[in-house]
Amino acid sequence: MTKIEKIVLSYSGGLDTSIILKWLQETYGCEVVTFTADLGQGEELEPARANAEMVGVKDIRIVDLREEFVSDFVFPMLRANALYEGQYLLGSSIARPLIAKHLVGIAREVGADAVAHGATGKGNDQIRFELAVNALDPSIKVIAPWRQWNIRSRMQLLEYAEKHHIPVPSDKRGEAPFSIDANLLHTSTEGKILENPAEVAPDHVYQRTVDPVDAPDTPEIVTIGFDWGDPVSVNGKSMTPAALLTELNGLGGRHGIGRLDLVENRFIDMKSRGIYETPGGTILLTAHRGIESITLDRAAAHLKDEIMPRYAELIYNGFWFAPEREMLQALIDHSQAFVSGEVTLRLYKGSASVISRASPCSLYSADLVTFEESTIAFDHHDAEGFIRLNGLRLRSWVARNGR
Ligand code: ARG
Repeated sequence: MTKIEKIVLSYSGGLDTSIILKWLQETYGCEVVTFTADLGQGEELEPARANAEMVGVKDIRIVDLREEFVSDFVFPMLRANALYEGQYLLGSSIARPLIAKHLVGIAREVGADAVAHGATGKGNDQIRFELAVNALDPSIKVIAPWRQWNIRSRMQLLEYAEKHHIPVPSDKRGEAPFSIDANLLHTSTEGKILENPAEVAPDHVYQRTVDPVDAPDTPEIVTIGFDWGDPVSVNGKSMTPAALLTELNGLGGRHGIGRLDLVENRFIDMKSRGIYETPGGTILLTAHRGIESITLDRAAAHLKDEIMPRYAELIYNGFWFAPEREMLQALIDHSQAFVSGEVTLRLYKGSASVISRASPCSLYSADLVTFEESTIAFDHHDAEGFIRLNGLRLRSWVARNGR
């Protein structure tokens, strides 16, 4: 085994990463620094400090990354209206490059030669962490205990904990819990009964949204302000990115918005079923499309839609820090210069629908489109010629082929 001097571990404070922490200390016999990111997962982070102290960690980093997460990762992605396989808002995918960036930053600061993460060997997250480290600092090694140790089952994991005096909370003693990943953008739940896509997900899987059936019977109206493609206000009140997303998560959650039960294709080529809850993100995607509908030129909007699946796949597959993602981002960002104004939505029993949009930079012309007499010069004979020319090749084609 290669000699490692110092490791920075991405540490949640939970049972699995506590075992990883111990295993790293035992296996490499070196100092381990823990890094716990507050991404708005809605969990107490102080237990992470206590648990790390308990196993003798001296350098414990707990960092609030909520604003950076939303402004530098979630919002750029929203500008693209990114959806993986048409539906997934990429809540876990977009958090990994940020965590990796800080792991690398801390490693450099403390002179560590390796970083470690608790992602398993079958998932996407290991790929995302490690591709990001590759792109940011290839001199830093990556340790992925789940791929390296001999622990192969939940039982063995708990045995390892007992043997090394790591306290196992009583609710973690039985069968494996759901695998949950949460942050300000979403909650993702996988595993257990969900592994059978034919089984209906039980209601207790959902954590941040009510069942639309139980949502209020009266709709709620919300207005979101945009500036350069980014949401900046809710009901006229300016907010920081993280505060804005937090606010919309509350609103959306109460109205049962943003639930998704999805079977997706992992990069590592297996299908997996997950339950996602993305209340604020779902509202923002709808609102962003609403403001773009009046501010983007037709061809610009269509080009964005063409590259969107490619861009989303890059993020899903872990290529956030790759040149082609940055190139697409430049294109997307350029398109947003006039994407400013206000969109009003109605939230009602699981749906967020745009009911009005307005912008000082609108391209919409009521005068042009009106069924009534228009003052703008629009010669109806032009439309006739336009159709005749577009139909030219169709007439030749049918003349040859017949119908
Ligand atoms: N399948 C999702 C993705 O690849 C979520 C992965 C993390 N979620 C989890 N529950 N462990 O982005």
